[in-house]
Amino acid sequence: MSRGLRITDLHPSIDDIAGDVLRGLSSMPKRLPSKYFYDRRGSELFEQICAQPEYYLTRTEEALLHAAAGEIARLAGPGACLLELGSGASRKVRLLLGPLRPSRYLGIDISRDFLLASTRRLAAEHPWLEVHALCADFSHPLQLPTELQDSRPLLFFPGSSIGNFTPGEARRFLRNLHGLLPEGGDLLIGVDLLKDVRMLEAAYNDAAGVTAAFNLNLLERIRRELDCDLEPARFHHLAFFNEALGRIEMHLQSHRPQQVRIEDRVIEFAEGETLCSEISCKYSVADFQALAASAGFAAEAVWTDPHQWFSLHYLRRQPPARLLK
Ligand code: TRP
Repeated sequence: MSRGLRITDLHPSIDDIAGDVLRGLSSMPKRLPSKYFYDRRGSELFEQICAQPEYYLTRTEEALLHAAAGEIARLAGPGACLLELGSGASRKVRLLLGPLRPSRYLGIDISRDFLLASTRRLAAEHPWLEVHALCADFSHPLQLPTELQDSRPLLFFPGSSIGNFTPGEARRFLRNLHGLLPEGGDLLIGVDLLKDVRMLEAAYNDAAGVTAAFNLNLLERIRRELDCDLEPARFHHLAFFNEALGRIEMHLQSHRPQQVRIEDRVIEFAEGETLCSEISCKYSVADFQALAASAGFAAEAVWTDPHQWFSLHYLRRQPPARLLK
């Protein structure tokens, strides 16, 4: 008998999407908030990205999780409450459940149907585990469901999603997590490392075109959900490494001059103009540890693969007194 699934839904409304899209497309340079990638189709495409041969991140992180699971369990102690940010298909967390034996699991994701399907499956396959689903946009400060507030949490944030914030945003985000976690709460976080540019760029330009399809699906979703004449076929996918900022940038580039009508506004694109849909910052282990320390998290352990492609950090929340103002 499964212990069932407890659901909390804080899904953003259509008004947020319209406002966010208009704000992003009226700024210079143009951009779109990346959280809107993850409709049902986007979440499915993202799972396919993770399986592409060029996308070394997922398999490298999974190998690290597999190898480190015993030590992670020892650091977290028995009966922890495992929370996962951006849980998607809840695949990686399966590597931890056996060794960790948490008392509860809470998957947090913005993609509602996907989250519910994945956590329902997880609950059915692990009848001993209490499973919760929280549909929320974690780019805004979060509140945990009240029944979870007094348990000892281990917050799992895999996939180098922390790199999808700028370093300044990442620091603010980690500070929010610091505020969310009680004393002694821990953070397990996957961070992609700086490396050869060709390898980085290949990971975001897979030969099968899945990343391109994922990027263009953002425009498809906006066309579908807003009253507008945005035409995905008039754009193409562009991803490159920005050396100065140490990050991959994902853009959608306009083939030719065009006007797009969204609600009562007209947005102009010049030929070759791009809108930035995502960034993916890459770190060194030391730089990431310094960033985490500035947000009140001490490095307890770090695991990297033999090639130093990816890092997995176990961070411990420090008392607020040690936070620099
Ligand atoms: N966290 C993932 C990363 O930075 C997200 C990602 C992978 C992504 N491929 C993408 C986001 C393509 C947008 C487009 O690697």
